[in-house]
Amino acid sequence: MDITTTPAWSALQSTAPPPHLRQLFAGDPKRAVRYRLQAGDLLIDYSKNLIDDDVMRRLFAVAATAGVEARRAAMFSGQPINVTERRSVLHTALRAPRDAVIEVDGRNVVPDVHNVLQRITTFADRVRSGAFRGATGAAMQTVVNIGIGGSDLGPAMTYLATESFGDPNLRCRYVSNVDGADIAGNLADLDPATTLFIVSSKTFTTIETLTNARHARTWLTAALGEAAVGKHFVAVSTNAKEVADFGIDTANMFGFWDWVGGRYSMDSAIGLSLMIAIGPDDFRELLAGFRAMDEHFLSTPLDRNLPVLMGLLGIWYADAFGFETHAVLPYSQELSRFPAYLQQLEMESNGKSVRLDGTRVDYNTGSIVWGTAGTNGQHAYYQLLHQGTHIVPMDLIGFVNPTTEVGEHHDLLVANLFAQAEAFAFGKTREEVHAADVPAHQVDARVFEGNRPTSVILADKLTPRMLGTLIALYEHKVFVQGAIWGIDSFDQWGVELGKVLATRIADELKSDVEEVSSQHDSSTAALIRRYRARRVRPKD
Ligand code: F6P
Repeated sequence: MDITTTPAWSALQSTAPPPHLRQLFAGDPKRAVRYRLQAGDLLIDYSKNLIDDDVMRRLFAVAATAGVEARRAAMFSGQPINVTERRSVLHTALRAPRDAVIEVDGRNVVPDVHNVLQRITTFADRVRSGAFRGATGAAMQTVVNIGIGGSDLGPAMTYLATESFGDPNLRCRYVSNVDGADIAGNLADLDPATTLFIVSSKTFTTIETLTNARHARTWLTAALGEAAVGKHFVAVSTNAKEVADFGIDTANMFGFWDWVGGRYSMDSAIGLSLMIAIGPDDFRELLAGFRAMDEHFLSTPLDRNLPVLMGLLGIWYADAFGFETHAVLPYSQELSRFPAYLQQLEMESNGKSVRLDGTRVDYNTGSIVWGTAGTNGQHAYYQLLHQGTHIVPMDLIGFVNPTTEVGEHHDLLVANLFAQAEAFAFGKTREEVHAADVPAHQVDARVFEGNRPTSVILADKLTPRMLGTLIALYEHKVFVQGAIWGIDSFDQWGVELGKVLATRIADELKSDVEEVSSQHDSSTAALIRRYRARRVRPKD
């Protein structure tokens, strides 16, 4: 459906932007209470957004008109809503209770999910207890996950976010980049005898992952011999044939399914490193958190539904105001990689410009997502956020209690979060600047216009369960937006072209003799020639 042809969309587009947040708050003492929603102990205060009742009514009408509820039912029940790949989209099945029935092609997939969960639980317990031994008989001390994109970002982000729940004697490392500095740096201080590699790749054809895995294998066998591979390598994949071809025994493979998108896969065996780090119990807590948000999303009316709310706010800013970016600013060092995780989740999902029927959109779809952990950003780019010419809607994420109590740090951290949200909304008027006895030549520069929109997401504590809830909140937000924009949020054809070209160019870079292919443009050809001419290769 082209949402722009509907009366609900026209009504939204013709809405006058509400007055300045200063006026909105002054005119409504209950605004903070009226514009907040809660699921469990996760609260969203969205009162500092550029909205009023009229705007919200029109936004919810857009969601209803777009058929968000029907599409949500289709996803949860396993219909093939990923149309270009003709696949079901069932990451929600990964956290479904054991007695749920979710069918794909007439087969209930829930028992398969719980079988794999059981297998990774057994394996994780063996690694954690030291029962799993390497080639020399030593227990594992380091787990190196080799993967990229969805086979890296979820576990890597969550590992940092849950480190305080982890086993201090077992550390995880995440290698993703095909830049050799990544794997070399990560292996430099490791002992092969106590290192376990998890090669994580849905397709098991991803060049970065296979290149890194080959290097890891050479590193290991140089120290412990070929026979050590079976004791130090396991794979997580949907592709048993490629795993076997790579030389990993499929008995050491943990599977998942084509109905799990890479960027939605951290609840599958892709989370194995994480389960080893935090233990099966906390991993199940994480899944329970995801499930809590699934249930909220599935059963709460649209106008009280957190992912629907967040999706609609994004659409309001992207399509009514034309704001192009969205910042996610966690006031939590543990969530420092959350923005990077969301970049894949949101931008690979909704960075699309054709609808499900192939017609081109003429409105903004997925926003450019960015951000870093507060308060560091305050001393880097907040200047632009406060006084620049771009308006950037923001999610400020914080926790009432710290995971680690250190002096007065936490109160200061949260004070900064609240202060920033206040400053973004209300700014500082010319009168206030004057009243502060500011020299005349500085007055203009020290006025803050305010009216910069923020949502404050506040939870009691960053636990595995809360993290699961938070991630699922964004997963479903992405879903809602995709449903309204009428796009396929679950394919990723846009990453293919670069992959194909890189493979071809990699061969050309290695050759000193062949003429550079005439298929390249003159710029690319010249860059290849210069690289070849100046490349100094190590002597064998
Ligand atoms: O970036 C493209 C992509 O296909 C992602 O969707 C995926 O998460 C990533 O590559 C890794 O793919 P794989 O798990 O198959 O190695």
